[in-house]
Formats: sequence, C-alpha cells, structure tokens
Amino acid sequence: GKVAVLYGGESAEREVSLNSGEAVYQGLIKSGIDAIKIDPSDNFYQQLISNKIDRVFNVLHGRGGEDGVVQGFLETLKIPYTGSNVVGAAISMNKLLSKQVWRQLGISTAHFEAVEKQDSFGVSEARRLLAKLGPNLFVKPVKEGSSVGMSKVSTPEELVDAVTLAHQYDSEALVESFIAGKEYTVSLVKGVALPSISMQTPREFYDYEAKYQSNETEYFCPSGLSWEEEKRIGEIALRAFTSLGCSGWGRIDFIRDGRDGEFLILEANTVPGMTTSSLVPKAANALNISFEELVLSILDTSFD
Ligand code: DAL
Ligand code: MG
Repeated sequence: GKVAVLYGGESAEREVSLNSGEAVYQGLIKSGIDAIKIDPSDNFYQQLISNKIDRVFNVLHGRGGEDGVVQGFLETLKIPYTGSNVVGAAISMNKLLSKQVWRQLGISTAHFEAVEKQDSFGVSEARRLLAKLGPNLFVKPVKEGSSVGMSKVSTPEELVDAVTLAHQYDSEALVESFIAGKEYTVSLVKGVALPSISMQTPREFYDYEAKYQSNETEYFCPSGLSWEEEKRIGEIALRAFTSLGCSGWGRIDFIRDGRDGEFLILEANTVPGMTTSSLVPKAANALNISFEELVLSILDTSFD
C-alpha cells in the first residue's frame, strides 16, 4: 500500500516539519517503500483519497499535527498512522495538563502556574509569581514546540513582557521555575528507551536558535551519565510517556537539577524532529541503528 508522509502544516514549526518530512520521505524511498509527501495545508482530504493512501507517517510538528487534531481526522477516515493516538497527542501538546498528570503521579517536574490571557497580568501579580517560583522563571505558551514564544526572566517587568509574548501564541501561558542544570533528552521507540543525549549551548537556554541555527550547540551521546543514572532516566521517560497516554515513538526532555541531581521533566514530544541531524536519529545512531532502519521501525507503529 501507499504511505503518505504528512509534513509542513500550518503551525509555528512548519519549517522544521518540512525538513523532518523530507528526510523521512527519503528514508522510506531508500528502503523501497511506496511513499509520497503530503502537506495538509492544501486540499488534505482530496490528496489522501486521490493518492489512495492506506497508511500515514505523521511528521507534522506542533498544533494541528501533534495535538490530536490530525489523529482524530485519520481515525474517522480509518487510515492508520504512526505515533500516539488522539488522547496522548492532545495531552502532551499541552504542557500544563502534562505537568498536572506528572505531578499527580509523583513524576518530578518544575513548579509552575498558568496565566490566562483574559486575566489582567501586571507587575504586582508578576512580583507574586517571582516570589513564589523565582528567582528565575521560564515562560512558555502552553501548547507550542521548538521553544517558540519562550523566555527566561528574572524581574517583574521582564515577566510581564514574557507573558504577553507567550499569549501571542496561546491563550494560556505557563510560568515555571527555572532550574539551573544540564538538559537531557530520551528518545523512545516501540517501548524502548534509546541512549540519552545531553545538550550544551552557550546561549541562555536551548532555544530555537540553539536547536536549529547555531553551530555552537554541542550534543553528547553517550551523555556521560553512569549506568544506573542512564537506566533511571530511561525508566522515568517511559513512565512519563505512557502516563500521558502516548505510544509508538516520541521524546521526553529533561533538565537535571544542578543542586541535587534530580531529573525533572520539561515536556513530552509525540512527533519529535526527524531531520538527519535531529535528536532521535542521533540516539538511534548510538545503537548503530541507521536512519532508514529507524524510519521503518517508526512506520511499524502505525500497525499497533
Ligand atoms: N518540537 C520539535 C520538532 C522537537 O521536539 O524535536
Ligand atoms: Mg516540544
């Protein structure tokens, strides 16, 4: 049957998705799979039907593609797709709901509060949040990816501006304690945690530029954790992933608290970046799994 690689879309991560989709498409073609690329921003339904698509490899990042919306549409059409189902995708796109679930289960994540766009948020409210969650805070749109609309702040005035910026992307902003420490990520494929990767950037944090534009970002895989720590971070990642209802494949991002060494979860990604230099392919490569082999095992998740 024919496989459609869904890529592009209309989210803020469109450019990243176009790159991921192109790489996945090439990987499938090299493996002899009958595949085409489809950008759903243009006559989506017609493209699926006229090309007689019977399976989808979803590489749409962000809203519309990673949040349960396209998953629900494909369910209705009875077209199998890779990755998490509607519930897993919807909850993991929402950082507030994700953190509430993890909190409830005793899975460590930084302290947080949400700020709704309709509520007036001024300097006095900003002071209260800084006193409660500071001295440094991360501010993010609740449903975004690739660090879009994100800021690190330490004064009430900066916090007000950061909340305003986050509200340009989402009606809810997430305000989180900033934890000083090293960032790690764990890739998950079919119930298996791949070796963790640690990231290092000279920038304030691992932001959009550090992710996609800077050549100063360094990646370490193996990440330098001890065997016991590696086992632990993999177990936390799997538990955090399944607890949100996610399945198939994905990536859990962490920050390791520099004070006590605890692994705190930042977020879950159900459609992580898949360019040849992205994190999941890097982790697979550490196990001598080629990009083509990785793509085929992700395609397998559409049969579950
Ligand atoms: N949201 C980007 C694509 C990632 O997590 O890799
Ligand atoms: Mg993300």
